[in-house]
Amino acid sequence: MDDKRIYLSLSQQSGFEREYVQKALDTNWITSGGPNVDEFENEIENYYDEETFVTALNSGTSAIHLALILLGVTSGDEVICQTMTFSASANPILYQGAKPVFVDSEPETWNICPEYLEIAIKDRIKKGKKPKAIIAVHLYGNPYKVDEIHAIADRYNIPIIEDAAEAFGSYYKGKKCGNFGDYGILSFNGNKIITTSSGGALISKNQDLKEKAIFYATQSRDHAVHYQHSEIGYNYRMSNICAGIGLGQMKALHSNVEARRENHFFYKDILQSIDNVQLFEVLNEDYFSNYWLNTILIQSNFTNNKTKEDLRLVFEKGNIETRPVWKPMHLQPIFEKYPYYGNKVAEEIFGRGLCLPSGSNLSKEDKNRIKEILVNFFK
Ligand SMILES: Cc1ncc(COP(=O)(O)O)c(C=O)c1O
Repeated sequence: MDDKRIYLSLSQQSGFEREYVQKALDTNWITSGGPNVDEFENEIENYYDEETFVTALNSGTSAIHLALILLGVTSGDEVICQTMTFSASANPILYQGAKPVFVDSEPETWNICPEYLEIAIKDRIKKGKKPKAIIAVHLYGNPYKVDEIHAIADRYNIPIIEDAAEAFGSYYKGKKCGNFGDYGILSFNGNKIITTSSGGALISKNQDLKEKAIFYATQSRDHAVHYQHSEIGYNYRMSNICAGIGLGQMKALHSNVEARRENHFFYKDILQSIDNVQLFEVLNEDYFSNYWLNTILIQSNFTNNKTKEDLRLVFEKGNIETRPVWKPMHLQPIFEKYPYYGNKVAEEIFGRGLCLPSGSNLSKEDKNRIKEILVNFFK
């Protein structure tokens, strides 16, 4: 096997990352927080069209955790979470000693289903506990049904944590994802649209909340000369070195989204003439996806009885990484004891779905290798 490995999702550098990291080293700002962190936050705040308050953190997971803390979620509370997601959306609920309540996807965006969301809210209220928050995810960069989901949340007065970890650069009705929720979260993990190697951001609605987030993220230090603490603190702030990478990456945001969208149209071109497979696409022109990952569903009645796992193994033989779509949270051993509302849509997607290589750095040669495998598999 001489061909180099093609990974599922690598980022592309702008070339400016080194300059910002060098500046941090030259000025000896090698710590959490610092000038690069402030500038990175400003750049993200300026990216959004409406007023936005951004706190740069060491991961998207920390951002979700801080959002829950800022919403006052505590032991015994219930938090609704989309079941079809990465475990990082749900884990912070357990960090708070709260109880996750999982809601199915709808088949059009693969995101949280409005119908089952309302059923879940009503049932939880009937059982004696109104959910304290809703975590809705823009899966694989595809926006969830923002209007419908937020209308339901408003009706019951429940705040939304918008998990836009995979959706930086996506839009819903012309508005940028990340700023719809009471809190939004972004991830800059190595496989995301832009990366800081590891990192994330919490998006909030005013300066006080931003300051409170920074307070919690830097060990909740009270105003005192000595180290004094009246609340539990966390070490969640982004490092100045990582923020330097982020500043360079911001210059690649647009081109990285373009590259991922080009990958999508590359797959569409190959797959539109193949009956047994369906490329996941946005529902209509209200939705603009960064197509962070391209995903396919293989028909269950596929004549040769080949499955997504057969395809994954063929890719693997060709030294190409693919990955099953997220296994729903309510099926995970750690979460299976918690309530679930739905009709097995996420399970169906999990049973047939595969994520295809979608990095911002896929070359023409990479695409030729991918195409050959796809065409031969479905022949
Ligand atoms: C949907 C989703 N939520 C949250 C996260 C957590 O982000 P991080 O890895 O930066 O902690 C990720 C990605 O890793 C994700 O894909």
